[in-house]
Amino acid sequence: MSDLVKIFDTTLRDGEQSPGATMNVAEKVRIAEQLEKLNVDIIEAGFPISSEGDFEAVKEIAKTVRRSQVVALARTNRQDIERAWEAVRFAKFPAIHTFIATSDIHLKHKLRKTRQQVLNEASKAVRYAKTLCENVEFSAEDATRSDLDFLCQVLSKVINAGATTINIPDTVGYAIPFEFENLIRTIRQRVKEMEKVTLSVHCHDDLGLAVANSLIAIQNGARQVECTINGIGERAGNASLEEIVMALRTRRDLLQFHTRILPKHIFTTSRLVSKITGMVIQPNKAVVGANAFAHQSGIHQDGVLKEKLTYEIMTPESVGIPKSSIVLGKLSGRHGFSERLKDLGYHLSESDLELAFNRFKQLADKKRDIYDEDIESIVVEEILRVARRFKLVYINVVSGNVTVPTATVQMEVDGQLKQEADFGDGPVDATFKTIKKITRTRSKLLQFAINAITSGTEAQGEVTVRLEEKGQTVMGQGADTDVIVASAKAYINALNKMEFRKQKLVGM
Ligand code: KIV
Ligand code: ZN
Repeated sequence: MSDLVKIFDTTLRDGEQSPGATMNVAEKVRIAEQLEKLNVDIIEAGFPISSEGDFEAVKEIAKTVRRSQVVALARTNRQDIERAWEAVRFAKFPAIHTFIATSDIHLKHKLRKTRQQVLNEASKAVRYAKTLCENVEFSAEDATRSDLDFLCQVLSKVINAGATTINIPDTVGYAIPFEFENLIRTIRQRVKEMEKVTLSVHCHDDLGLAVANSLIAIQNGARQVECTINGIGERAGNASLEEIVMALRTRRDLLQFHTRILPKHIFTTSRLVSKITGMVIQPNKAVVGANAFAHQSGIHQDGVLKEKLTYEIMTPESVGIPKSSIVLGKLSGRHGFSERLKDLGYHLSESDLELAFNRFKQLADKKRDIYDEDIESIVVEEILRVARRFKLVYINVVSGNVTVPTATVQMEVDGQLKQEADFGDGPVDATFKTIKKITRTRSKLLQFAINAITSGTEAQGEVTVRLEEKGQTVMGQGADTDVIVASAKAYINALNKMEFRKQKLVGM
């Protein structure tokens, strides 16, 4: 008999805390829809008190998602909890997740509170949350560096106050698997009330041990794991959903646990999150990286050709990696395009479909084969990136080995047309300078990278930029067959994200 492990996805909350990974409301709702399709049990949709945008996103997700539980995060104060409930109450299965740190390091330097104060606040918060919502999760932040006696005391108190899930975070990714195993085991032995609740873990990856720690916790009684798509999250990120799920599936012989995740949707979900957040997946990333199923050495290739089992412990198809993704071309019609969109999980309204189809036709005029990746870029750029302050209207760049690179750019800024020209060291520099002039922004460019979305010289170039302003970083992406246009789109996307980011009132 195998036990169920619930998957609590926090891509939209902890994942969004990755430097630069800001998402707007439409983007978050789209990811939430995809997470529901992936069949995650719980979606942590955001931290409503942190900004108007987060509040709206949680509310929209709560209204949209019908099968997964939707959770909103709150600190232990009344205002946070009320705001979380206000946003999440529309969900079919709502939950409030409240947290406070329990380690002396956090108590002394961050909270400046005594253990007694934290104990009281934690139970008061849970008791209050429970008057609003049946499902209440409590997290003891920095649990792995907390005094064990005190941690157990807090857990027992919050369970008696009504918590239904107890989460043990390794907030700073400090635990070593055998140590984490001991912690989980001891908590279960010492806090007798644990029997009444779901035990959850939330592991960060600072030492690259988040997945290992999650698995050892499952073996020792955790029945919920908190994780993110592609392992994104604060600093080095969180435990990666796809790695936990595929480890449990691939090693069923050893680990008698299962999840409700439908692995065939893993790849699409991973790509969607990468596209929307601008966080590029490293090629050697387990399960979803471009090289995860590529066999390079002659000996390996020979082995795989003879029998896949020689070097493949799971198949690319099992996580939804398509064999070939050439789908459409110039002659494809509206119907074919809309069917392909549906296959990829996008159900667009008539007007959005019209917009996307027009863009598809423009692209098909420049490029013979249109791949799934191209279609995803169209949807992300044309449909999901709504409510933009800055919009590209027109760009003309002159460059060459005997001219000074010059860019002329026309943009809409808050609905008003503006045009400027400038020159630079190269065409990208000229473009960025001109955009900066039009938008009157001060962000510093930290990183600029170009990748081809698909293979071949006619492929769309996908540009990723990272900008910084007053300690805030954002990432932007843009795709086009012309890399200068893609660069302009990426830069403008990042500037829009920076505007959105500025609205954050509370950070974690
Ligand atoms: O890492 C952490 O401790 C958190 C909590 C809010 C669960 O993200
Ligand atoms: Zn976290």
